[in-house]
Amino acid sequence: MVRTMFQFALQILLFGLAAAAPSLDPDNLSSFKATLFIPYASKFASNSTPTINGMINGEKHTIPVDTGSTGLIIGAPKLKSIPKNKGTFGVEYLSSSNNLYTGRFVNINITFFGKNETKAVSQVPVLIVDKAVVCPGYNVTKGDGICPKKNPQQNDLNRILYMGVGFGRNTKGSGLPYAIPSHNPFLNIQSINGKKVSDKTYRNGYTVSTHGIDLGLTTKNTAQYNWVKLDKGITTDSRDWAQVRTSFKVNDQGPFSGAALIDTGIGQMYIQAYPKGNIPNATVADTFHKPVVKGKKITVVKKDTHLDFGFPALNDKDGVAGYDFKVGDKKFKSQPLWVQPVTIGNEPHVNTGRKFLWGFSVAFDAVSGRFGFKCLKC
Ligand SMILES: *[C@@H]1O[C@H](CO)[C@@H](O)[C@H](O)[C@H]1NC(C)=O
Ligand SMILES: *[C@@H]1O[C@H](CO)[C@@H](O)[C@H](O)[C@H]1NC(C)=O
Ligand SMILES: *[C@@H]1O[C@H](CO)[C@@H](O)[C@H](O)[C@H]1NC(C)=O
Ligand SMILES: *[C@@H]1O[C@H](CO)[C@@H](O)[C@H](O)[C@H]1NC(C)=O
Ligand SMILES: *[C@@H]1O[C@H](CO)[C@@H](O)[C@H](O)[C@H]1NC(C)=O
Repeated sequence: MVRTMFQFALQILLFGLAAAAPSLDPDNLSSFKATLFIPYASKFASNSTPTINGMINGEKHTIPVDTGSTGLIIGAPKLKSIPKNKGTFGVEYLSSSNNLYTGRFVNINITFFGKNETKAVSQVPVLIVDKAVVCPGYNVTKGDGICPKKNPQQNDLNRILYMGVGFGRNTKGSGLPYAIPSHNPFLNIQSINGKKVSDKTYRNGYTVSTHGIDLGLTTKNTAQYNWVKLDKGITTDSRDWAQVRTSFKVNDQGPFSGAALIDTGIGQMYIQAYPKGNIPNATVADTFHKPVVKGKKITVVKKDTHLDFGFPALNDKDGVAGYDFKVGDKKFKSQPLWVQPVTIGNEPHVNTGRKFLWGFSVAFDAVSGRFGFKCLKC
């Protein structure tokens, strides 16, 4: 089931009324009118990353929207309008797929299409990929882009186009120096329908739902959202915020506290209680990853394990949203495609995967550092 904690909403309301003047509330969005709704290019689906229509340096593309990474990468052959040697050397590594990309960062205009020829234009350094290899064990702290493996598998540059719009991924030791706000296409909107935006007219941030994206927060597009304050990120950029916090229980173990990632880039869930606890798990034939590889095994959380999440806490006083389910209960719409226990780093954490969005729409306010939940089933 999914839930909101009305008590907390009431507390905020009372606090709001007690404040001297409404205009002093930094989170009153009534003066922000610049916004654009971007519908997905095709119907939102549990098993694929949502996409939107747009242009990269004036060339039309269908662009994935991944809230689990940050920055836009595109294979050099897909962007013929940029000269071969333009830009400054850059490297990105996606540890989830072991893909190592080397190329050049070039400042590029990206246009996002709304309905009826409405549009927003962003500008960020885009990584134009000249080489892509599969490189497990790549040393991210070196960041030199050199794969120590002999003859690593090469990826087809014609197939590389990925846009990360997530935040809080550049944690200490992550080896993701470019997963920063200045590289995030959704945080660098320059104009909407040809009109330049400013921090007076445009509230930097966005919402993500199963229908599409709102660029620019307004009173209207954030109605019914409950908010969690975020910790500062590790850079001095005022738009840099840490991931939202969660507290969760595994059967009656816990609560465990850590970061939560609402990741549109995956359909499964990753969950870690380590080093505070462990999670009932079983190693089974991997029929989840497609295409199925005969004999391949996967460790998953045991069926019927009860998982209960609160954001940022489980109790009614501090929590503003939450959901719980039994692993494998197909009747629950936000049930991940599968649930994988992990031990990465030294804190419990969860990546809910994109199916979370069947229960909640989410919002990121990059100005005051808030993450919002709008419950769709409460
Ligand atoms: C936000 O500010 C506007 C204009 O100052 C005011 O009319 C409105 O009541 C405020 N909203 C809230 C929820 O405080
Ligand atoms: C990119 O957009 C800016 C306006 O935001 C414009 O001044 C500039 O000419 C554009 N550059 C290209 C290469 O289209
Ligand atoms: C978009 O265009 C369609 C058809 O021309 C029209 O019915 C619709 O009202 C328009 N929507 C907006 C938001 O302007
Ligand atoms: C990665 O590179 C850093 C910096 O050169 C080095 O200190 C570290 O030991 C390397 N890690 C591994 C696992 O090789
Ligand atoms: C998986 O289960 C075993 C016990 O069967 C336990 O020792 C281990 O910690 C569990 N793994 C995780 C990641 O929780």
